[in-house]
Amino acid sequence: MPALQCEHLSKVYRGGFRKKGEVQALQDLSLAVETGQIFSLLGPNGAGKTTFVKILLSITHPTSGRAFVLDRPITEPRVRRKVGYLPENHRFPGYLTGQQVLTSFGSLSGVRGPALRSHIDSLLTLVGMQEWRDVKVRKYSKGMMQRLGLAQALVNDPAIVFLDEPTDGVDPVGRKEIRDVLRNLRNEGKTIFLNSHLLSEVELVSDRVAILDKGKLLKVGTVQELTTTEESYHIGYEGSIPEALRTEAAARVLDIVISSEGIVARVSDAASLNALIDLLRKHKVLITSVGQQRNTLEESFISLIKREIPE
Ligand SMILES: Nc1ncnc2c1ncn2[C@@H]1O[C@H](COP(=O)(O)OP(=O)(O)O)[C@@H](O)[C@H]1O
Ligand SMILES: [Mg+2]
Repeated sequence: MPALQCEHLSKVYRGGFRKKGEVQALQDLSLAVETGQIFSLLGPNGAGKTTFVKILLSITHPTSGRAFVLDRPITEPRVRRKVGYLPENHRFPGYLTGQQVLTSFGSLSGVRGPALRSHIDSLLTLVGMQEWRDVKVRKYSKGMMQRLGLAQALVNDPAIVFLDEPTDGVDPVGRKEIRDVLRNLRNEGKTIFLNSHLLSEVELVSDRVAILDKGKLLKVGTVQELTTTEESYHIGYEGSIPEALRTEAAARVLDIVISSEGIVARVSDAASLNALIDLLRKHKVLITSVGQQRNTLEESFISLIKREIPE
């Protein structure tokens, strides 16, 4: 069962009475997230990520399309009992301690007394904030604030948790700590939906990634799928490649870059890769390795977004 499913979701924000003020924040978005995964929605600012999460939580409503969370339509209020949410740029009152923040959110969700106290203990342990529980929130670093935010999002023991830019403004050590918490949550069987404009973050932690730009879903896949360009190969070699051979090699493939680091060739199929290798071998080039070339997620992301820009 997918933890989250949406079909043809669109959202148009209408600015007042003027039709000119319309913003198409989401456009025909269909997506499914399997239970127990860390799923990331990746996209630049203004892509529509926050809008998407707000629709799933019924904070705002879609213009068209439908969505299901934990197999129930999002319009059913009781769905939200099993959903956690860390909003983007959240603020907790600085005069409260971490423990007090969690206690107040916990009682809002209907948990009280000893059950809430022991739950808060385990949440503070999970996010690594036990030692800071009695310190006022105003003394917290950004990373500590976000970890407390994570604990808050988990206070009702949700099956799925939506985290909107959880590592924004957090230093590298804090980010790693947050990633570790996310992995622990996944190990507990929770589904995690992450919004981020930080490519490197998503690459390290996600099982699946969806790339969103200007309200449109450009691609969905595993990090591996999104970063492997199937037709690009890296060929390691020793020795030198004379100019004439370079020209001949270029004629056999779609694109080739030859440097002392190796050869990167883009080919249409395995046959042309073999033709290139045959040519190199015929000229006594010693091949030391052949492998598929991986892009970073950042490169794939940029090339996808560029393709979207009309010529
Ligand atoms: N309440 C709103 N009213 C009008 N336009 C909005 C509103 N919220 C967001 N938008 C617009 O919708 C688009 C998507 O915004 P948002 O969902 O916040 O993107 P992201 O979270 O990816 O940065 C942007 O163009 C933004 O300006
Ligand atoms: Mg946002």
